[in-house]
Amino acid sequence: MAKLALVTGANRGIGFAIARELALRGLRVVAGVRSAEKALQASTDFEAAGVKVEPAMLDVADAAGIPGALAEIERINGTIDVLVNNAAIMIDGPGGFGASLFDMTDDVFRQTWNTNVLGPAATMRALLPGMMARRFGRVVNLSSRAGQLSGMGSGFPAYRVSKAALNALTRIAAAEAAASKEDVKINVCSPGWVRTGMGGADAPRSPETGADTAVWLATLDRDGPSGGFFEDRESLPW
Ligand SMILES: NC(=O)c1ccc[n+]([C@@H]2O[C@H](COP(=O)([O-])OP(=O)(O)OC[C@H]3O[C@@H](n4cnc5c(N)ncnc54)[C@H](OP(=O)(O)O)[C@@H]3O)[C@@H](O)[C@H]2O)c1
Repeated sequence: MAKLALVTGANRGIGFAIARELALRGLRVVAGVRSAEKALQASTDFEAAGVKVEPAMLDVADAAGIPGALAEIERINGTIDVLVNNAAIMIDGPGGFGASLFDMTDDVFRQTWNTNVLGPAATMRALLPGMMARRFGRVVNLSSRAGQLSGMGSGFPAYRVSKAALNALTRIAAAEAAASKEDVKINVCSPGWVRTGMGGADAPRSPETGADTAVWLATLDRDGPSGGFFEDRESLPW
């Protein structure tokens, strides 16, 4: 049977493009969404985009609810072989840009941390043991150049910290998976600046271009990398 992929936050933007491309490549794909209404809309949108992708409820900001939600997805669809942690928010300041550390509220930090860090940590904790036991798994975390410590600049501090933490989580998970010596690969990527709700209308890249490196990492062969940070399929400095 074809491998099963779960893409979080896949009802729009880069997640939608990743889910569509994985389905076009013959994987079975579940799209994580956070409401029944969005599930209905996503079904229609994937059908219009020419692919069969199953929406499933998965709010990644609800870390406590994630193991149960994933168990339900696996009960219905079978075990998840490929996990793409795509869902994220950027809520620093009005419009997301220009917010200084000194304007950042604890609430913005907490919400960003819950969605962008605790969510992916919870999905990895829930799914990696099964992947290691079955001796196969691919995990792709969607990060950003905003999370690079080398060249870290000012602005949108909660988002930057969350993506730097996601990079660290990726390294930790990859090191633990490597110790098992199974064919389980965990990588993180930057999609570049992409025209989505988050990236805005002026971004130079299409969602399909932004999805390319994540799709490559989700479909790596056994000899592919693990524990790396990539953009345009090239290694990026941390
Ligand atoms: N666009 C860029 O230029 C850019 C650059 C660097 C990195 N990235 C990264 O690429 C990834 C995708 O970004 P994007 O531009 O496609 O963002 P987007 O257009 O804002 O879409 C975000 C997706 O995540 C979902 N989401 C947010 N919070 C969620 C939650 N608690 N539970 C489940 N789903 C949730 C949203 O669902 P709703 O529809 O329910 O809100 C939506 O489907 C993110 O990790 C982002 O940080 C993007």
